Amino acid sequence: MDKVMALCKRRGFIFPGSELYGGLNGTFDYGPLGVALKRNIMEAWWSLFHTKKRQLGVVALDSGVLMARRVWEKSGHLANFADPMSDCVKCKKRTRADHLIERLDNTIACGTFEQTVQAAAALQAQGRWQCPYCDHSPLGAPRLFNLLFPTKLGPLSSEETFFRPETAQGVYVNMPNLFSARGAVKLPVGVAQMGKAFRNEINPSHFVFRTREFEQMELQWFCEKQDEDKWHAFWVEECLKFVCSPEFCNLDPTKVRVRHHAKADLAHYASACADLEYCFPFGWGELCGVANRGDWDLKAHNVLHAVFKDQQVSCIEPSMGASRLMLAMLCDAMGQEEDHLVLRLGKNMCPTQLAIMPVVNNKPEVLAKTAQVYDSLAQALISPRDLEHLELDLSSGSIGKKYAKHDEIGTLMCMTVDSDTCIDGSVSVRKRDSGERVRIRVDGVRSLDDVMIAAAR
Ligand code: GAP
Repeated sequence: MDKVMALCKRRGFIFPGSELYGGLNGTFDYGPLGVALKRNIMEAWWSLFHTKKRQLGVVALDSGVLMARRVWEKSGHLANFADPMSDCVKCKKRTRADHLIERLDNTIACGTFEQTVQAAAALQAQGRWQCPYCDHSPLGAPRLFNLLFPTKLGPLSSEETFFRPETAQGVYVNMPNLFSARGAVKLPVGVAQMGKAFRNEINPSHFVFRTREFEQMELQWFCEKQDEDKWHAFWVEECLKFVCSPEFCNLDPTKVRVRHHAKADLAHYASACADLEYCFPFGWGELCGVANRGDWDLKAHNVLHAVFKDQQVSCIEPSMGASRLMLAMLCDAMGQEEDHLVLRLGKNMCPTQLAIMPVVNNKPEVLAKTAQVYDSLAQALISPRDLEHLELDLSSGSIGKKYAKHDEIGTLMCMTVDSDTCIDGSVSVRKRDSGERVRIRVDGVRSLDDVMIAAAR
């Protein structure tokens, strides 16, 4: 994790939030490469869960981060969206009580609040219920702490509401807007949405794994109740495909597992849930959840009948956090070459697929040719996404140093321009994963895939 965090800072993937003013716990800012990687993840999710599923009935939504207070009353978040915390009697720091119990003794169940209180009491009787931050001071009994972020609206700040803790509620309250013009809605249908969510986490931890502001990618899939198990299994498979397939996030499948929740672990709205977990350097952690929310939310907002009439409906919800997935991908892709790190990100995820550079910086004709090769390639590329994955690197330093830098940021291929390019138009392409170098011609290239194919010959 230390290596991942240092690389993220050094190369401009992720910076600590408000660092100039001493930092703000649980917040992070994304630099140029982080923006590119997060965007690749979110666009890939959108293509698999929205665009390729439109023929199944998935539509898009972009609802507000701010929603009326009544939404959170009705959804059950005001009453139930809480984690257990314990205060240290001495240093006053707050600890997630269930996480501490798991750390101290992972055989004790603490799915419900009552179980957490009992477990803390049992550990206290053994003299083990102690603050992890200061010198073994006693911790208080667990209390519930609501994770909603309050905010006040208007010039008099008279109206209180909350930043959304999940994008899902925007879908439920918009169901009549989305579907009422269609007559009786035929099941199944789905609504995909990506966007910011906010949680006042007690202990933000493990870099961007648990933060107070993060990006969610969620699909609400409404199906006939009798088909809920079939669709639940389908969306678990789609999530597995998304996180493990080389076409998408390319995580090592042996480091991904599916964990079905026990009843006591379920969120207040769910009747079943399967999490995909990744084996992070700090242990197994949730990457995404696929919940069966039944008709809880539709009934809570009183929109079930207006949209689906008398049909028996269940909502299956695959939900992922983009930054958590990004952390898993960075951990998974990181490797060590002799004297430098290498990020072996999947082809569609690396911020730069092809970097064009001169072999030396002190020959004007080579520098001019490099800019020319870049310009003609940039003009020839048909796809705008390809253009975003193309970079001109005129930075100083030896070619070896540049290759090492590009390995560290996951660049798939480096194209080097030299004096032979000025004579016959050929360039050298160096591949990240093998270090192999091949000579190719770039005339006729219309896509970055064309470069890969030419370099594979
Ligand atoms: N709408 C369902 C829902 O929000 P969740 O399990 O609470 O379910 C879904 O969150 C996903 O959002 C998680 O699997 C995780 O990837 C991401 N997530 C949740 N809390 C997070 C946090 N504090 N920081 C980063 N990502 C988070």
